[in-house]
Amino acid sequence: MRIETGAKVNLTLEVLRRRPDGYHELATVFQAIDLADRIELTSADSLEVTVHGADVPTDDRNLCHRAATALAAEAGIRPEVRIAISKRVPVGAGLGGGSANAAGTLAALCRFWGLGDDPERLHRLAAGLGSDVAFFLHGGAAVGLGRGERLEPLPGLPEPSRLVILSPGEGVATGRVYGALDGFRAGAGQVTERLAAGLRAGVVPPIGEWLVNDLELPAARVSAVVREDRERLAALLHTPFRLSGSGGAWFVPVPAADAEGVRASLAGVWPERSVWVARPVSHGWREVPA
Ligand code: C5P
Repeated sequence: MRIETGAKVNLTLEVLRRRPDGYHELATVFQAIDLADRIELTSADSLEVTVHGADVPTDDRNLCHRAATALAAEAGIRPEVRIAISKRVPVGAGLGGGSANAAGTLAALCRFWGLGDDPERLHRLAAGLGSDVAFFLHGGAAVGLGRGERLEPLPGLPEPSRLVILSPGEGVATGRVYGALDGFRAGAGQVTERLAAGLRAGVVPPIGEWLVNDLELPAARVSAVVREDRERLAALLHTPFRLSGSGGAWFVPVPAADAEGVRASLAGVWPERSVWVARPVSHGWREVPA
């Protein structure tokens, strides 16, 4: 069985407060995009994970490994499958690639192992693997509350929106970024509510009114590359780029007609990095022909 698992940007990301369990209470608007990894599931005698295209662990630190182990344990079966991951979505980018790998693996393994797809079980296992894994079970657009795992579906950015994405200069560790937060904005959560209301009504407000990310300054504190990118983007392009999640990828929503021009300017400034023009999509993962 072959699947594609996607990526996301956070159109808004507001941090409300720190919780007693160490996590942070969020209000975010996730938007799934068509940048995707490929995963192939084949029968095997044991659990075996391989990764091409990125330097990530293949043992029980790998989210797909954990997804297979957790699902098999719950179903009372042995996790016998070979999971071959081909990465295209950069790692440590704030684009949710690893979370999407885990969500797609969980949902696809339910079919592969003939376990049925009990949505409540899938959501619980997904939320246990990471804060934004559950989002990728459905994809599209959604408000994320709690750690990001409490989801309210939304209509996505309308056609012909595109998202121009600058890949990170270095991976950023999410936990370190949250650790560098130095306070919480009064009224945090309101921007997310306004954008969600706009998307529900089919009227997207001007991006200057909603493109926020409360993790951008803390990320710039922990990563010199994020700090330099931020300064260069502000000085060079006069376009309101935002960090996605905890970084280090950057994005801007643009009308389709402007996307190639913005992509070309970024590619000129960062010739060593990938720059993508992504489309909003209504899924988080999908089966593709083998
Ligand atoms: O859940 P996930 O594994 O993606 O989170 C990675 C780290 O990011 C957590 O260990 C935590 O330090 C931080 N985090 C947080 N609040 C959230 C999500 C993540 O503090 N809502």
